[in-house]
Amino acid sequence: MAKEGADMTEETQYMIDRNAGKEGVSVESPSNAKEMRAVVLAGFGGLNKLRVTKKAMPEPQNGEVKIRVKACGLNFLDLMVRQGNIDNPPKTPLVPGFECCGIVESVGENTQGFEIGDRVMAFMNYNAWAEVVCTPVDFVYKMPDEMMFAEAAAFSLNFVAAYMMLFEVARLREGMSVLVHSAGGAVGQAVAQLCSTVPNITVFGIASCFKHASIKDSVTHLFDRNTDYIQEIKKISPDGVDIVLDCLCGENTGKSLSLLKPLGTYILYGASNMVTGETRSFFSFAKSWWQVEKVNPIKLYEENKVIAGFSLLNLLFKQGGYNLVKSVMNKLLSLYEQKKIRPLVDSLWALEEVKEAMQRIHDRGNIGKLILDVEKSPTPLMANDSTETSEAGEEEEEPEGDNDSKERMPFIH
Ligand SMILES: NC(=O)c1ccc[n+]([C@@H]2O[C@H](COP(=O)([O-])OP(=O)(O)OC[C@H]3O[C@@H](n4cnc5c(N)ncnc54)[C@H](OP(=O)(O)O)[C@@H]3O)[C@@H](O)[C@H]2O)c1
Repeated sequence: MAKEGADMTEETQYMIDRNAGKEGVSVESPSNAKEMRAVVLAGFGGLNKLRVTKKAMPEPQNGEVKIRVKACGLNFLDLMVRQGNIDNPPKTPLVPGFECCGIVESVGENTQGFEIGDRVMAFMNYNAWAEVVCTPVDFVYKMPDEMMFAEAAAFSLNFVAAYMMLFEVARLREGMSVLVHSAGGAVGQAVAQLCSTVPNITVFGIASCFKHASIKDSVTHLFDRNTDYIQEIKKISPDGVDIVLDCLCGENTGKSLSLLKPLGTYILYGASNMVTGETRSFFSFAKSWWQVEKVNPIKLYEENKVIAGFSLLNLLFKQGGYNLVKSVMNKLLSLYEQKKIRPLVDSLWALEEVKEAMQRIHDRGNIGKLILDVEKSPTPLMANDSTETSEAGEEEEEPEGDNDSKERMPFIH
Protein backbone atom coordinates (compact mmCIF):
# COMPACT_ATOMS: atom_id res chain seq x y z
CA MET A 1 0.00 0.00 0.00
CA ALA A 2 1.41 3.36 -0.96
CA LYS A 3 1.96 5.92 1.70
CA GLU A 4 -0.72 8.47 1.07
CA GLY A 5 -0.38 12.17 1.57
CA ALA A 6 -2.85 14.12 3.59
CA ASP A 7 -6.13 12.38 4.18
CA MET A 8 -8.98 14.07 2.47
CA THR A 9 -10.77 16.46 4.72
CA GLU A 10 -14.09 15.37 6.11
CA GLU A 11 -15.89 18.04 4.12
CA THR A 12 -14.27 17.12 0.84
CA GLN A 13 -14.80 13.45 1.53
CA TYR A 14 -18.45 14.18 2.28
CA MET A 15 -18.85 15.93 -1.05
CA ILE A 16 -17.15 13.09 -2.88
CA ASP A 17 -19.32 10.53 -1.14
CA ARG A 18 -22.36 12.57 -2.01
CA ASN A 19 -21.23 12.44 -5.62
CA ALA A 20 -20.72 8.72 -5.34
CA GLY A 21 -24.38 8.39 -4.51
CA LYS A 22 -25.25 9.95 -7.84
CA GLU A 23 -22.87 7.83 -9.79
CA GLY A 24 -25.04 4.83 -10.38
CA VAL A 25 -27.65 6.89 -12.18
CA SER A 26 -28.07 6.60 -15.90
CA VAL A 27 -27.14 9.42 -18.22
CA GLU A 28 -29.61 12.23 -17.84
CA SER A 29 -29.88 12.98 -21.47
CA PRO A 30 -31.49 16.26 -22.29
CA SER A 31 -30.67 15.16 -25.82
CA ASN A 32 -32.79 17.91 -27.34
CA ALA A 33 -30.93 20.61 -25.39
CA LYS A 34 -29.29 23.06 -27.74
CA GLU A 35 -27.14 24.77 -25.16
CA MET A 36 -24.94 23.92 -22.19
CA ARG A 37 -23.05 25.80 -19.46
CA ALA A 38 -19.32 26.34 -19.77
CA VAL A 39 -16.61 28.45 -18.16
CA VAL A 40 -15.38 31.00 -20.67
CA LEU A 41 -12.12 32.95 -20.56
CA ALA A 42 -12.99 36.20 -22.31
CA GLY A 43 -9.38 37.38 -22.65
CA PHE A 44 -6.03 36.80 -20.95
CA GLY A 45 -5.61 38.52 -17.59
CA GLY A 46 -7.11 38.52 -14.13
CA LEU A 47 -9.95 36.62 -12.52
CA ASN A 48 -12.50 39.00 -13.99
CA LYS A 49 -11.87 37.42 -17.39
CA LEU A 50 -13.64 34.23 -16.27
CA ARG A 51 -17.37 33.72 -16.43
CA VAL A 52 -19.92 30.96 -16.86
CA THR A 53 -22.04 31.31 -19.97
CA LYS A 54 -24.25 29.24 -22.25
CA LYS A 55 -22.59 27.76 -25.31
CA ALA A 56 -23.90 25.76 -28.22
CA MET A 57 -24.20 22.04 -27.47
CA PRO A 58 -21.30 20.21 -29.17
CA GLU A 59 -22.00 17.06 -31.20
CA PRO A 60 -19.49 14.23 -31.73
CA GLN A 61 -17.65 14.05 -35.03
CA ASN A 62 -16.11 10.99 -36.65
CA GLY A 63 -14.15 9.02 -34.03
CA GLU A 64 -15.32 11.17 -31.13
CA VAL A 65 -17.34 10.56 -28.00
CA LYS A 66 -19.73 13.03 -26.43
CA ILE A 67 -19.34 13.14 -22.65
CA ARG A 68 -21.84 14.49 -20.11
CA VAL A 69 -19.24 15.95 -17.75
CA LYS A 70 -19.42 15.32 -14.00
CA ALA A 71 -16.13 16.85 -12.84
CA CYS A 72 -13.09 18.66 -14.23
CA GLY A 73 -9.53 19.07 -12.94
CA LEU A 74 -8.26 22.57 -12.15
CA ASN A 75 -4.50 22.73 -12.56
CA PHE A 76 -1.82 25.34 -11.97
CA LEU A 77 -1.45 25.38 -15.74
CA ASP A 78 -5.01 26.74 -16.03
CA LEU A 79 -3.91 29.71 -13.96
CA MET A 80 -1.01 30.28 -16.32
CA VAL A 81 -3.34 30.00 -19.32
CA ARG A 82 -5.70 32.56 -17.78
CA GLN A 83 -2.81 34.99 -17.46
CA GLY A 84 -1.59 34.25 -21.00
CA ASN A 85 1.63 33.00 -19.39
CA ILE A 86 2.16 30.20 -21.95
CA ASP A 87 3.89 29.71 -25.28
CA ASN A 88 1.73 30.26 -28.35
CA PRO A 89 -1.47 31.09 -26.46
CA PRO A 90 -4.64 30.29 -28.42
CA LYS A 91 -7.13 32.98 -29.34
CA THR A 92 -9.70 34.08 -26.78
CA PRO A 93 -12.54 33.72 -25.94
CA LEU A 94 -11.91 30.08 -25.09
CA VAL A 95 -13.19 27.42 -22.73
CA PRO A 96 -10.26 26.45 -20.44
CA GLY A 97 -9.51 23.06 -18.95
CA PHE A 98 -7.43 20.06 -19.98
CA GLU A 99 -9.14 17.15 -18.24
CA CYS A 100 -12.59 16.01 -17.23
CA CYS A 101 -14.63 12.91 -16.54
CA GLY A 102 -18.25 11.91 -16.96
CA ILE A 103 -20.59 9.58 -18.81
CA VAL A 104 -20.61 8.87 -22.54
CA GLU A 105 -23.83 10.33 -23.92
CA SER A 106 -23.38 9.49 -27.60
CA VAL A 107 -20.67 8.41 -30.02
CA GLY A 108 -19.77 9.73 -33.46
CA GLU A 109 -19.48 7.60 -36.57
CA ASN A 110 -16.58 5.12 -36.69
CA THR A 111 -16.06 5.44 -32.95
CA GLN A 112 -14.89 2.18 -31.43
CA GLY A 113 -14.30 0.99 -27.90
CA PHE A 114 -16.89 3.15 -26.11
CA GLU A 115 -20.63 2.84 -25.57
CA ILE A 116 -23.34 5.11 -24.27
CA GLY A 117 -23.28 5.00 -20.46
CA ASP A 118 -19.55 4.29 -20.09
CA ARG A 119 -17.92 6.17 -17.20
CA VAL A 120 -14.85 7.81 -18.69
CA MET A 121 -12.10 10.33 -18.09
CA ALA A 122 -10.52 12.34 -20.86
CA PHE A 123 -7.74 14.73 -21.74
CA MET A 124 -8.90 17.77 -23.68
CA ASN A 125 -6.91 20.29 -25.67
CA TYR A 126 -8.87 23.09 -23.88
CA ASN A 127 -12.69 23.03 -23.66
CA ALA A 128 -12.87 20.69 -20.63
CA TRP A 129 -14.70 23.05 -18.24
CA ALA A 130 -18.16 22.52 -19.65
CA GLU A 131 -21.27 20.45 -19.02
CA VAL A 132 -20.74 18.54 -22.26
CA VAL A 133 -17.57 17.89 -24.27
CA CYS A 134 -16.71 16.00 -27.44
CA THR A 135 -13.25 14.53 -27.93
CA PRO A 136 -11.48 11.89 -30.04
CA VAL A 137 -11.30 8.42 -28.45
CA ASP A 138 -7.49 8.61 -28.47
CA PHE A 139 -7.73 10.81 -25.37
CA VAL A 140 -10.48 8.92 -23.52
CA TYR A 141 -10.07 6.16 -20.89
CA LYS A 142 -12.63 4.02 -19.07
CA MET A 143 -12.84 4.64 -15.34
CA PRO A 144 -12.48 1.71 -12.94
CA ASP A 145 -15.84 0.79 -11.39
CA GLU A 146 -14.78 1.84 -7.92
CA MET A 147 -13.32 5.20 -8.97
CA MET A 148 -15.43 8.24 -8.10
CA PHE A 149 -15.80 11.16 -10.47
CA ALA A 150 -13.96 13.54 -8.14
CA GLU A 151 -11.04 11.11 -8.13
CA ALA A 152 -11.14 10.61 -11.88
CA ALA A 153 -10.96 14.36 -12.45
CA ALA A 154 -7.91 14.44 -10.17
CA PHE A 155 -6.17 11.50 -11.79
CA SER A 156 -5.13 11.86 -15.40
CA LEU A 157 -2.87 14.88 -15.74
CA ASN A 158 -1.04 14.55 -12.43
CA PHE A 159 -0.44 10.84 -12.39
CA VAL A 160 0.44 10.47 -16.07
CA ALA A 161 2.89 13.40 -15.86
CA ALA A 162 4.40 12.09 -12.62
CA TYR A 163 4.68 8.53 -13.95
CA MET A 164 6.25 9.51 -17.26
CA MET A 165 8.82 11.76 -15.62
CA LEU A 166 9.80 9.18 -13.01
CA PHE A 167 9.68 6.01 -15.07
CA GLU A 168 9.97 6.97 -18.76
CA VAL A 169 12.39 9.89 -18.53
CA ALA A 170 14.38 9.41 -15.30
CA ARG A 171 14.16 5.58 -15.05
CA LEU A 172 13.42 5.51 -11.32
CA ARG A 173 14.87 2.40 -9.70
CA GLU A 174 15.17 0.90 -6.23
CA GLY A 175 17.36 2.88 -3.85
CA MET A 176 17.25 6.19 -5.76
CA SER A 177 16.53 9.64 -4.34
CA VAL A 178 14.11 12.23 -5.76
CA LEU A 179 13.65 15.94 -5.08
CA VAL A 180 10.16 17.29 -5.77
CA HIS A 181 9.01 20.91 -5.44
CA SER A 182 5.41 21.85 -4.57
CA ALA A 183 5.20 18.48 -2.80
CA GLY A 184 1.76 19.20 -1.36
CA GLY A 185 0.27 19.95 -4.76
CA ALA A 186 -1.50 17.62 -7.14
CA VAL A 187 1.56 16.56 -9.16
CA GLY A 188 3.74 16.58 -6.04
CA GLN A 189 1.47 14.13 -4.25
CA ALA A 190 1.25 11.91 -7.34
CA VAL A 191 5.08 11.84 -7.45
CA ALA A 192 5.24 10.95 -3.76
CA GLN A 193 2.74 8.11 -4.13
CA LEU A 194 4.42 6.67 -7.23
CA CYS A 195 7.81 6.77 -5.51
CA SER A 196 6.35 4.67 -2.71
CA THR A 197 5.60 1.90 -5.23
CA VAL A 198 9.37 1.33 -5.66
CA PRO A 199 11.42 -0.05 -2.75
CA ASN A 200 13.73 2.20 -0.80
CA ILE A 201 13.19 5.53 -2.56
CA THR A 202 14.15 8.66 -0.64
CA VAL A 203 11.86 11.57 -1.47
CA PHE A 204 12.91 15.11 -0.57
CA GLY A 205 9.82 17.31 -0.71
CA ILE A 206 9.61 21.10 -0.61
CA ALA A 207 6.35 22.80 0.36
CA SER A 208 4.89 25.73 2.23
CA CYS A 209 5.21 25.20 5.95
CA PHE A 210 1.52 25.02 6.82
CA LYS A 211 1.13 21.90 4.61
CA HIS A 212 3.78 19.92 6.44
CA ALA A 213 1.55 18.37 9.08
CA SER A 214 -0.78 17.06 6.38
CA ILE A 215 1.79 15.66 3.96
CA LYS A 216 4.74 14.65 6.13
CA ASP A 217 4.01 10.93 5.81
CA SER A 218 4.01 11.04 2.02
CA VAL A 219 7.71 11.94 1.68
CA THR A 220 10.92 10.99 3.47
CA HIS A 221 12.20 14.50 4.22
CA LEU A 222 10.16 17.67 4.00
CA PHE A 223 11.52 21.22 3.86
CA ASP A 224 9.91 24.62 3.98
CA ARG A 225 10.09 26.30 0.60
CA ASN A 226 11.66 29.36 2.29
CA THR A 227 14.63 27.49 3.77
CA ASP A 228 17.96 26.88 2.06
CA TYR A 229 16.86 23.41 0.96
CA ILE A 230 20.10 22.77 -0.94
CA GLN A 231 22.11 22.94 2.28
CA GLU A 232 19.52 20.91 4.19
CA ILE A 233 19.53 18.14 1.58
CA LYS A 234 23.33 18.11 1.40
CA LYS A 235 23.47 17.61 5.17
CA ILE A 236 21.43 14.42 4.72
CA SER A 237 22.83 13.33 1.37
CA PRO A 238 26.21 14.98 0.70
CA ASP A 239 26.40 13.46 -2.79
CA GLY A 240 23.08 15.03 -3.79
CA VAL A 241 20.08 13.32 -5.41
CA ASP A 242 19.44 11.10 -8.43
CA ILE A 243 16.38 12.89 -9.81
CA VAL A 244 15.22 16.50 -9.55
CA LEU A 245 11.70 17.36 -10.70
CA ASP A 246 11.56 21.13 -11.17
CA CYS A 247 8.24 22.83 -11.82
CA LEU A 248 9.46 26.25 -10.64
CA CYS A 249 12.22 27.19 -13.12
CA GLY A 250 14.17 30.45 -12.65
CA GLU A 251 16.67 30.41 -9.80
CA ASN A 252 15.69 26.84 -8.91
CA THR A 253 17.12 25.47 -12.14
CA GLY A 254 20.75 26.27 -11.27
CA LYS A 255 20.28 25.21 -7.65
CA SER A 256 18.74 21.91 -8.70
CA LEU A 257 21.49 21.12 -11.17
CA SER A 258 24.05 21.66 -8.43
CA LEU A 259 22.27 18.98 -6.37
CA LEU A 260 22.42 16.25 -9.00
CA LYS A 261 24.59 13.20 -8.43
CA PRO A 262 26.67 11.91 -11.34
CA LEU A 263 24.31 10.23 -13.84
CA GLY A 264 21.43 12.05 -12.15
CA THR A 265 18.53 13.50 -14.15
CA TYR A 266 17.06 16.98 -13.86
CA ILE A 267 13.62 17.44 -15.43
CA LEU A 268 12.03 20.84 -16.01
CA TYR A 269 8.25 20.48 -16.29
CA GLY A 270 6.79 23.82 -15.23
CA ALA A 271 7.51 27.47 -14.57
CA SER A 272 5.43 28.33 -11.51
CA ASN A 273 7.90 31.06 -10.55
CA MET A 274 6.58 33.12 -13.44
CA VAL A 275 3.29 33.57 -11.61
CA THR A 276 3.49 36.42 -9.14
CA GLY A 277 0.52 38.79 -9.32
CA GLU A 278 -2.99 38.29 -10.64
CA THR A 279 -1.98 39.10 -14.18
CA ARG A 280 1.03 38.17 -16.23
CA SER A 281 4.21 39.96 -15.16
CA PHE A 282 6.82 40.56 -17.84
CA PHE A 283 9.31 41.23 -15.05
CA SER A 284 8.75 37.78 -13.49
CA PHE A 285 8.90 36.20 -16.94
CA ALA A 286 12.19 37.91 -17.78
CA LYS A 287 13.67 37.27 -14.32
CA SER A 288 12.79 33.61 -14.49
CA TRP A 289 14.48 33.10 -17.83
CA TRP A 290 17.44 35.24 -16.88
CA GLN A 291 18.04 33.09 -13.81
CA VAL A 292 18.09 29.87 -15.77
CA GLU A 293 21.73 28.99 -16.03
CA LYS A 294 23.07 28.67 -19.53
CA VAL A 295 23.32 24.95 -20.06
CA ASN A 296 26.76 24.00 -21.26
CA PRO A 297 26.89 20.51 -22.83
CA ILE A 298 30.62 20.31 -22.13
CA LYS A 299 29.95 20.81 -18.42
CA LEU A 300 27.23 18.16 -18.55
CA TYR A 301 29.66 15.77 -20.18
CA GLU A 302 32.31 16.47 -17.56
CA GLU A 303 29.86 16.14 -14.66
CA ASN A 304 27.85 13.21 -16.05
CA LYS A 305 24.49 14.94 -15.70
CA VAL A 306 21.29 14.59 -17.69
CA ILE A 307 18.93 17.48 -18.36
CA ALA A 308 15.43 16.84 -19.68
CA GLY A 309 12.14 18.62 -20.23
CA PHE A 310 8.64 17.21 -20.05
CA SER A 311 5.29 18.54 -21.23
CA LEU A 312 2.44 16.05 -21.22
CA LEU A 313 0.08 18.29 -23.18
CA ASN A 314 2.62 18.83 -25.94
CA LEU A 315 3.28 15.10 -26.04
CA LEU A 316 -0.44 14.37 -26.34
CA PHE A 317 -1.67 17.10 -28.61
CA LYS A 318 1.35 18.23 -30.64
CA GLN A 319 3.65 15.21 -30.79
CA GLY A 320 1.22 12.33 -31.30
CA GLY A 321 2.15 10.57 -28.07
CA TYR A 322 -1.37 9.39 -27.21
CA ASN A 323 -0.63 5.65 -27.64
CA LEU A 324 2.28 5.86 -25.22
CA VAL A 325 0.08 7.83 -22.80
CA LYS A 326 -2.63 5.17 -23.15
CA SER A 327 -0.17 2.46 -22.14
CA VAL A 328 0.95 4.57 -19.17
CA MET A 329 -2.68 5.13 -18.19
CA ASN A 330 -3.27 1.36 -18.21
CA LYS A 331 -0.37 0.87 -15.80
CA LEU A 332 -1.65 3.66 -13.57
CA LEU A 333 -5.19 2.27 -13.50
CA SER A 334 -3.75 -1.08 -12.51
CA LEU A 335 -1.87 0.60 -9.63
CA TYR A 336 -5.12 2.33 -8.65
CA GLU A 337 -7.00 -0.97 -8.68
CA GLN A 338 -4.31 -2.51 -6.49
CA LYS A 339 -4.90 0.44 -4.12
CA LYS A 340 -1.28 1.55 -4.46
CA ILE A 341 -2.18 5.06 -5.61
CA ARG A 342 -5.17 7.30 -5.01
CA PRO A 343 -5.47 10.95 -6.05
CA LEU A 344 -5.59 13.41 -3.20
CA VAL A 345 -8.51 15.81 -3.61
CA ASP A 346 -8.21 19.22 -1.97
CA SER A 347 -11.68 20.62 -2.60
CA LEU A 348 -14.69 20.69 -4.92
CA TRP A 349 -16.11 23.83 -6.50
CA ALA A 350 -19.09 24.70 -8.67
CA LEU A 351 -18.37 26.03 -12.15
CA GLU A 352 -19.59 29.40 -10.88
CA GLU A 353 -16.90 29.29 -8.17
CA VAL A 354 -14.04 28.94 -10.63
CA LYS A 355 -12.59 32.33 -9.64
CA GLU A 356 -12.42 31.39 -5.95
CA ALA A 357 -10.93 28.02 -6.82
CA MET A 358 -8.26 29.65 -8.97
CA GLN A 359 -7.50 32.16 -6.25
CA ARG A 360 -6.95 29.28 -3.84
CA ILE A 361 -4.28 27.69 -6.03
CA HIS A 362 -2.72 31.11 -6.63
CA ASP A 363 -2.61 31.68 -2.84
CA ARG A 364 -0.80 28.32 -2.40
CA GLY A 365 -3.72 27.14 -0.26
CA ASN A 366 -4.34 23.75 -1.89
CA ILE A 367 -3.18 20.39 -0.59
CA GLY A 368 -3.88 18.05 -3.50
CA LYS A 369 -6.18 18.73 -6.41
CA LEU A 370 -8.94 21.27 -6.97
CA ILE A 371 -12.00 19.92 -8.74
CA LEU A 372 -14.78 21.70 -10.58
CA ASP A 373 -17.90 19.71 -9.78
CA VAL A 374 -20.36 20.39 -12.59
CA GLU A 375 -23.39 19.38 -10.52
CA LYS A 376 -22.46 21.35 -7.42
CA SER A 377 -24.42 24.49 -6.60
CA PRO A 378 -22.40 27.55 -5.71
CA THR A 379 -22.03 28.09 -1.97
CA PRO A 380 -22.67 31.79 -1.40
CA LEU A 381 -20.61 31.88 1.78
CA MET A 382 -17.56 30.65 -0.05
CA ALA A 383 -18.12 32.71 -3.13
CA ASN A 384 -18.55 35.99 -1.32
CA ASP A 385 -16.47 36.03 1.80
CA SER A 386 -13.57 33.76 2.61
CA THR A 387 -13.05 35.34 6.04
CA GLU A 388 -16.38 34.31 7.51
CA THR A 389 -16.82 31.39 9.83
CA SER A 390 -17.43 27.96 8.37
CA GLU A 391 -20.84 26.61 7.43
CA ALA A 392 -20.88 24.72 10.69
CA GLY A 393 -20.38 28.02 12.42
CA GLU A 394 -16.90 27.11 13.66
CA GLU A 395 -13.99 29.49 13.59
CA GLU A 396 -11.36 28.68 10.99
CA GLU A 397 -8.14 27.43 12.50
CA GLU A 398 -5.10 29.56 11.76
CA PRO A 399 -2.65 27.51 9.73
CA GLU A 400 0.68 27.03 11.45
CA GLY A 401 3.95 28.64 10.49
CA ASP A 402 4.64 30.68 7.42
CA ASN A 403 1.44 30.45 5.47
CA ASP A 404 1.33 32.25 2.19
CA SER A 405 -2.13 30.91 1.57
CA LYS A 406 -3.45 33.86 3.58
CA GLU A 407 -7.19 33.50 3.84
CA ARG A 408 -8.15 29.95 3.23
CA MET A 409 -11.63 29.06 2.11
CA PRO A 410 -13.78 28.36 5.13
CA PHE A 411 -15.09 24.87 4.50
CA ILE A 412 -12.05 23.07 3.30
CA HIS A 413 -9.39 22.26 5.87
N1 LIG B 1 4.80 19.46 -17.81
C1 LIG B 1 3.70 18.84 -17.52
O1 LIG B 1 3.28 17.90 -18.23
C2 LIG B 1 2.92 19.25 -16.30
C3 LIG B 1 1.74 18.59 -15.95
C4 LIG B 1 1.06 19.01 -14.81
C5 LIG B 1 1.56 20.07 -14.06
N2 LIG B 1 2.70 20.67 -14.46
C6 LIG B 1 3.29 21.75 -13.63
O2 LIG B 1 3.47 21.22 -12.34
C7 LIG B 1 3.35 22.26 -11.38
C8 LIG B 1 2.33 21.85 -10.33
O3 LIG B 1 1.07 21.80 -10.96
P1 LIG B 1 -0.24 21.39 -10.16
O4 LIG B 1 -1.37 21.58 -11.09
O5 LIG B 1 -0.01 20.07 -9.51
O6 LIG B 1 -0.33 22.52 -9.05
P2 LIG B 1 -0.24 22.34 -7.47
O7 LIG B 1 1.14 21.90 -7.16
O8 LIG B 1 -1.38 21.54 -7.01
O9 LIG B 1 -0.55 23.80 -6.87
C9 LIG B 1 0.27 24.82 -6.93
C10 LIG B 1 1.28 24.81 -5.77
O10 LIG B 1 2.50 25.26 -6.35
C11 LIG B 1 3.26 25.95 -5.38
N3 LIG B 1 3.73 27.18 -6.04
C12 LIG B 1 4.97 27.35 -6.51
N4 LIG B 1 5.10 28.54 -7.08
C13 LIG B 1 3.92 29.15 -6.97
C14 LIG B 1 3.46 30.44 -7.36
N5 LIG B 1 4.25 31.30 -8.01
N6 LIG B 1 2.18 30.76 -7.10
C15 LIG B 1 1.39 29.89 -6.46
N7 LIG B 1 1.79 28.66 -6.08
C16 LIG B 1 3.05 28.29 -6.32
C17 LIG B 1 2.35 26.14 -4.18
O11 LIG B 1 2.74 25.17 -3.23
P3 LIG B 1 3.83 25.51 -2.10
O12 LIG B 1 3.50 26.88 -1.57
O13 LIG B 1 3.67 24.42 -1.12
O14 LIG B 1 5.17 25.48 -2.79
C18 LIG B 1 0.96 25.80 -4.70
O15 LIG B 1 0.12 25.29 -3.71
C19 LIG B 1 2.99 23.52 -12.17
O16 LIG B 1 4.17 24.23 -12.45
C20 LIG B 1 2.42 22.96 -13.45
O17 LIG B 1 2.50 23.85 -14.53
C21 LIG B 1 3.37 20.30 -15.55
